[in-house]
Amino acid sequence: MADSLRSKNRISRLAGMARRHGAASTWNHILAAVSLRTRPVRLVSWPRFIQIEVTSRCNMACVQCSRSTLGKPECQGNMSLDVFDRVLSGFKHYQYVTLHGLGEPLMNPQLEDMVRLLRQRSPEVVVGFNTNGLLLTPQKAIDLAEAGLDEIGISLDAATDETFLRIRGSDKLREIKKNIATIVSGPGPRPKLAVTLVVMEPNIRELVAFVEMAHAIGVDRASFCDLSSRWKPASGEDPMAVRDVETAREESAKAERRASKLGLPFVYTKLDDAIWPDVFIPCFYLWDYPYITWEGKLTPCCALPYAEEFSLGDLRERPFRELWNGKIYRRMRTDLREGVIPDVCEGCHHAEDPALGHVCTCDDAGTS
Ligand SMILES: C[S@@+](CC[C@H](N)C(=O)[O-])C[C@H]1O[C@@H](n2cnc3c(N)ncnc32)[C@H](O)[C@@H]1O
Ligand code: SF4
Repeated sequence: MADSLRSKNRISRLAGMARRHGAASTWNHILAAVSLRTRPVRLVSWPRFIQIEVTSRCNMACVQCSRSTLGKPECQGNMSLDVFDRVLSGFKHYQYVTLHGLGEPLMNPQLEDMVRLLRQRSPEVVVGFNTNGLLLTPQKAIDLAEAGLDEIGISLDAATDETFLRIRGSDKLREIKKNIATIVSGPGPRPKLAVTLVVMEPNIRELVAFVEMAHAIGVDRASFCDLSSRWKPASGEDPMAVRDVETAREESAKAERRASKLGLPFVYTKLDDAIWPDVFIPCFYLWDYPYITWEGKLTPCCALPYAEEFSLGDLRERPFRELWNGKIYRRMRTDLREGVIPDVCEGCHHAEDPALGHVCTCDDAGTS
């Protein structure tokens, strides 16, 4: 009974998708979903998700961010509209585009033009990004919505001024919250808004307060995510890593219950195997979610965004499709499916347990 209901729902979802995106993109969706289960080395499907780093510049220096710990200031810049256009022209059938990478997207002065261009090319695609909120004025939110932006995640990481200052190095939490509240209550069009938090030792006692703050501001969703172990400082232990795992478990469960009671949509992307030893999301980036740096270079994912150290090729010079089934991608996929962790993926949560690597639990992962 439950199985037949699930099949019916799936069919009606696919029919809805075919009406919105057309038959070819729906067929691609099916092929991509099958690929996530079967993990082929060479792909017939195009990625459904794309992450584009519209800038690698930033106006904050958050303690947990690899931009602060590993980034090279001399290799940073904004993507130009021309490169953005060229990059996009190499893709087909994508459904979701994330316009942030390792940097602050609102620092790119051509961001609105990029959203508009994307919207013209693909009216049905979902477009979103995360921001630190410093430049997110109410007018900016209206302009972006009018350009066609669907979603913004505002990364706050804290419910108190002290913790915000400790993690994000800024004393502007109140101002950012006030701007978000003005956007929420304003008459103009606006993108959907979420506030996000990376679960870390300094904020684990603020998880419930964070959910309550999100509800009080009136955003559409609160999202938690675990700290990426790929981004820890080169010098050993990450000082931001959760040490009190019991408290993290208890407080996050309380936060989830609180969100449910308040009727606030809540998502928690659990990655940290110290806190959640049973949770494993196998890598889907190599099969469905490429990353493009501000210069137009292709890298495997957001945890490996440094093209100067490792790149799959330059999209200004070679078509995406050629690289997608090129030698390096094929080698990495072969290794992962055979349980060999590629050198560059060493330490990643999504590569650690190849025995489970054929079971993907992340149907809508990436839509942060
Ligand atoms: C790198 S930031 C770029 C966008 C923007 N500057 C911002 O802060 O939202 C993208 C997302 O990664 C999150 N992030 C930063 N460091 C992280 C880490 N070590 N592990 C997991 N997520 C992290 C940020 O909180 C943010 O939500
Ligand atoms: S998390 Fe975002 S705001 Fe903070 S340093 Fe990284 S890119 Fe900048």
